[in-house]
Amino acid sequence: MDSILITGGAGFIGSHLVRHFVNKYKQKYRIVNFDKLTYAGNLENLKDIEDFENYIFVKGDIQEYNKLEEVFYEYSIKSVIHLAAESHVDRSIENPMEFVNTNVVGTINLLNAAKKIWKGKSDHLFYHISTDEVYGSLGEDGKFIETTAYDPRSPYSAAKASSDHFVRAFYHTYGLPVIISNCSNNYGPFQFPEKLIPLIINNIINSKPLPIYGDGKNVRDWLYVEDHVKAIDMIFHNGVRGETYNIGGDNEKMNIEIVTLLCDIIDKKLNNIGSSRLLIEYIKDRPGHDRRYAIDSTKLKTELKWRPENDFSIGLEKTVEWYLNNKEWLASVTSGDYLKYYKKYYEK
Ligand code: NAD
Ligand code: DAU
Repeated sequence: MDSILITGGAGFIGSHLVRHFVNKYKQKYRIVNFDKLTYAGNLENLKDIEDFENYIFVKGDIQEYNKLEEVFYEYSIKSVIHLAAESHVDRSIENPMEFVNTNVVGTINLLNAAKKIWKGKSDHLFYHISTDEVYGSLGEDGKFIETTAYDPRSPYSAAKASSDHFVRAFYHTYGLPVIISNCSNNYGPFQFPEKLIPLIINNIINSKPLPIYGDGKNVRDWLYVEDHVKAIDMIFHNGVRGETYNIGGDNEKMNIEIVTLLCDIIDKKLNNIGSSRLLIEYIKDRPGHDRRYAIDSTKLKTELKWRPENDFSIGLEKTVEWYLNNKEWLASVTSGDYLKYYKKYYEK
C-alpha cells in the first residue's frame, strides 16, 4: 500500500478528500491525515471513517519541519496532497503573519522534507492545492486561464501565490515532481460558518443579520466540494508533473443572488416564507474586495475529461439540508472564540 500524506485533512475540503480516498482506495492507499486542528479543523468531520484500517490521523503543524520529516520516514510517504492553510480572506486582513507562517513557511517545510527524503526519485508526487484568487480580480468579461499572470490582492491570496511560486521553484530548481491546481469557491457540508454560504445559513437559522459586503454584486464561481474532490482525484492520478490545472464550476453568481436564494430555500423548508430576506444588511465593504472571479477549466475538461456533476441548485439544496440536519455540529463549531470573532455582526 502506498502512503499519501494529506495535509489539512480535518478542514472543509480536506475532510471530503480524505473520506473519498479512504473509501475508494481501501486496498491501494494508506491515507495519513496531518492537521494542526486549528479553529477550522475538526475531527468530527471524519467520524465515519476514523476506524478504517487505511486511515491514520497525525496532529501536527506544518510550521514544524522536524515533525514533518518524522512523518515522512515513519509512514514512507510516497505522495503529498497539500491543503493545510489559513483559508479565510477576512482573517488574513486582520492577521497577515499567520498566513505567511502557515501558507508560505509551512509549504516550504513540506517541500524541503519531500526534496530531502525522496532524493530526486520521479515516482513521487507533491500535489499543491491552490486557489483562483492568486490571479486577482476580473472586470465584467473574461476568465482566468492557467497562464493568467498572478496578481494577488489580499494577504491570503498573496500568501497562496507565494506558496505556488515556491512549489514551481522546487520543480524547476530541484526536479521535485509537482502539480498545482487552482480552484474557485467551494461550498457544501462541513464548511466552517465564516465563509459566505454556511455563515448565511447559520445566521438565518439563528435569526441573525445577514451581512453583505459593499453592494453585494461581487461575483464568485461556485463549485460543489465533491466535484472539486473528484477533480483532485483525477489530477492526482493523471495530471502531468510540472503542470497547473484550473478547476471551476462554470457557475458565476453575485453574492446577493446567493443570499436571497438561501433565504428562499430555507424559508420554504421551515415554512417561514418571506421572513429571512428581512435579515439582509448591507455593511462596510471588505478592504481590497476582489470584484469578480471566473475560472476557465477547458484544460482539465479536455485533457483529463473532468466535468462538474452537481448542478448549483441541487448542490445548494443538499448543503442547506445538511446544515439543517446537523445543528449540533454548527453549535459546536460556533461556540467559544467564534462569537468573539463575529461579535460585530451580532451587536445590533
Ligand atoms: P479550511 O480552513 O476549512 O481547512 C484548513 C485545514 O488546515 C484545517 O483543518 C486546519 O486545521 C489545517 N491547518 C491550518 N494551519 C495548519 C498548520 N499550520 N499545520 C497543519 N494543519 C493546518 O480550508 P479549506 O477551505 O478546506 O481549504 C483547503 C485548501 O484549499 C486551502 O489550501 C485553500 O487555500 C484551498 N482552496 C480553498 C477553496 C475554498 O473555496 N474553500 C478554494 C480553492 C482552494
Ligand atoms: O476563490 C476561492 C477562495 O474562495 C478560496 O481560496 C478561499 O479559501 C475561500 O475562503 C473563498 O474566498 P472568498 O473570499 O471568495 O470567500 P468568502 O466566503 O469569504 O466570501 C465570498 C463572497 O461573499 C466575497 O465576495 C465576500 C462576500 N461576503 C463574505 C462574507 C463572509 C459577504 O458579502 N458577507 C460575508 O459575511
